[in-house]
This record gives sequence, C-alpha cells and structure tokens, in this order.
Amino acid sequence: MAEDKVRLGIVGAGGLSSSKIYPSLKYIPSAKLVAVCDLDEVKAHRNAEKFGAEHVFTDLDKMLDTEDMLDAVIVCIGPSQHAELAPKVLKAGFPVYTEKPPAVDANDALEVAKVAQETGLLCMTAFKKRYTPLYVKMKQQMNTERFGTPTMLAMQRSCSLYANTTPRNTFILDFCIHLLDLAPWLMGNVVAVRALSPEANTWSIQMEFDSGAIGSLAFSAHGSFTYPDEQVTVYGGKDAVLFARDGHSLTFAHDGVYHILHQLNFTTAGQNGLMESGFLPELQAFIKAVVTGDRSPVQSDIASSYRSMAVHDALVESAKSNSRVELVYEI
Ligand SMILES: NC(=O)c1ccc[n+]([C@@H]2O[C@H](COP(=O)([O-])OP(=O)(O)OC[C@H]3O[C@@H](n4cnc5c(N)ncnc54)[C@H](O)[C@@H]3O)[C@@H](O)[C@H]2O)c1
Repeated sequence: MAEDKVRLGIVGAGGLSSSKIYPSLKYIPSAKLVAVCDLDEVKAHRNAEKFGAEHVFTDLDKMLDTEDMLDAVIVCIGPSQHAELAPKVLKAGFPVYTEKPPAVDANDALEVAKVAQETGLLCMTAFKKRYTPLYVKMKQQMNTERFGTPTMLAMQRSCSLYANTTPRNTFILDFCIHLLDLAPWLMGNVVAVRALSPEANTWSIQMEFDSGAIGSLAFSAHGSFTYPDEQVTVYGGKDAVLFARDGHSLTFAHDGVYHILHQLNFTTAGQNGLMESGFLPELQAFIKAVVTGDRSPVQSDIASSYRSMAVHDALVESAKSNSRVELVYEI
C-alpha cells in the first residue's frame, strides 16, 4: 500500500456515492481515493476533481488493468451491477465493497460469495443498519444478562410510493432490505417466513428464527420520506424491552424505568448523519479490514448478505404462493 494508505477506486459517481461515500473518505485517514469510474464521463471527472482522485475511467476493466494503482474497490451502482462487477474486481485480485443490495436475488448473491470464497478476498455489502450506532448498541444490550433471551422482534418502516418497475425501484428489494437484513443480524438466522403483500408497496411479514424466537414486520410505501418512520422493538426475558424509535432513540424498559441509551436530535431512518446512519462506520470497517487483514470489523460479508437476500426471496415466494416458506442456506 502506498504511504500505508488503502488506494481506492470507486465505481459509480451517482447520487448516493457522491453524497455519502466520497465525502466520508476525508474522515478515514488510512484511505486515499485514486480513481473514479463511471459510464458517464462528466460525472466521473466531476467527482475526481471534487474529491481529489488522479485517475478517471469509464470502463471498470481498464481501471482494474492499470498497474500498481489500486488496493481496493468500491462499487455503488445498483443490485444487478453489484453482482456483475464485484466478481470482476475479486478476480482481478482486489477486495471489494458494494452498496446494498448485493444482487437482485439470493442466487446471484451466492455466485458472488463463491467467487469471494475461491479468491479468498473480502467482499462486503454496505448494509448500513449493522453499523448504525443505535442498532449496534441494541445488539450489545440484547447480549446482557438483564435482557435475557430474545423472544420476539417487531419492526415497522414506511416511506413514499415506489414504482416497482425495475429492481432499483422495487420497494421490498431497495427499501425493506435494510430491515430484512437487520432482523437476522439482531435475532439470528431466519428459518421460515410467511408474507402477505396485496400489492408491491404493502407487506405484512412473520418470521421464525432458529433460536425459536419470532418476528412480526410491517412495511408500507404509502407513507412519506418526509416523516421518518422506523420502529424496531425486541422483547427479552422478564421485564425487558428494547425499542428504537424513528432512528433517533434507543430505550431499554426494565425494572420499572425507561433507560434512555441513545438519543439523537435528528433521525437516522433516512440518510442523515454520516456516522449515526452507518455510512461512515461501514466504510471504516472495510478499510480497517483491508489495512490489517483482520475481518472482524466487517459485519456484512457477502456470505451473510446472501442469507439476507435469501430472506428477501423467501418473502417474495411466500407472498406469491400464500404459504409458509422454509429457508435453506447454501452457505
Ligand atoms: N444505503 C443506503 O441507504 C442507500 C441509499 C440510496 C441508494 N443506495 C444504493 O446505492 C446504489 C446507487 O444508487 P444511486 O442513487 O447512487 O444511483 P445513481 O443512478 O444515482 O448512480 C449510479 C451511477 O452508476 C453509473 N453506472 C451505471 N452502470 C455503470 C457501470 N457499468 N460502470 C460504471 N458506472 C456505472 C451511472 O452512470 C450512475 O452515475 C444502489 O444500489 C442503491 O440501492 C443505498
């Protein structure tokens, strides 16, 4: 690594990366942006200039072929491109970080995971909720004696209408996936699901976890991005309830007292706050793992993202078939 910094190439100079990923790099001293790649040359040049990259590409293959330029790659485009491009990056010999979702379905995510396994390189998905300090604290508290064994999860989240015409604007894949991923991260593997979805913007879901705990989730795109609505409650043993409200507070109700464990004056239900929303910590985890070779900071490697995608697929199948669907994971 040049000057002990991870030399990064970023593929994608669109809305999310330009507002969250590129601006986060200035808070990670061990990372250095060296190349920007976007099919749209104007955007690639704009971001290279704005965020200080020396090289500009419109073709990933050319970027990967450039000798002694890169140590790692970030891809932020859309689910089908993440699954298509991540294996190219891995086969070229670089660790890769993709935005969520890692693919359009579990099969495609599994193919990426297999390449990661074969190459032995890190492939991570930016499932930011796993890095959001609010939920990190929630998970820590779930492991305490006073919380006891998690018995039930309840989640609710809503936003503005989705068109549901492409994978990129499909409500369950693009929006709900954040909490579909958070659920097993908090509760353990999902073994079966049941879903009702009378139309693509309305979902009522039941989950069974391998621990024997259960979950109930409700997602609607008939709300608005203007009103942050993200409720996550976990019930423990006796007199133990942890609840996160609208991405701004975490409370532990126990012993007749509301213990406020985390309180923000803004919401992380949308994209606000580089640190509190998880955007910066997930990038820090990737860079740290690349620098040290220790992957423990990475909570969302492609194998676990594949399992979240399997939950997504099972829900789609359950809603279609109006039946309980059991999950079998290949990895
Ligand atoms: N974590 C979050 O909260 C969050 C929020 C919004 C979006 N996202 C995710 O971020 C990803 C990108 O979203 P966006 O809103 O920035 O999209 P966008 O359409 O604004 O940007 C995508 C960019 O990729 C470029 N591109 C397309 N194909 C390419 C290729 N083969 N090689 C190089 N460049 C290519 C496009 O020209 C465009 O500039 C999506 O997967 C989305 O789900 C995550």
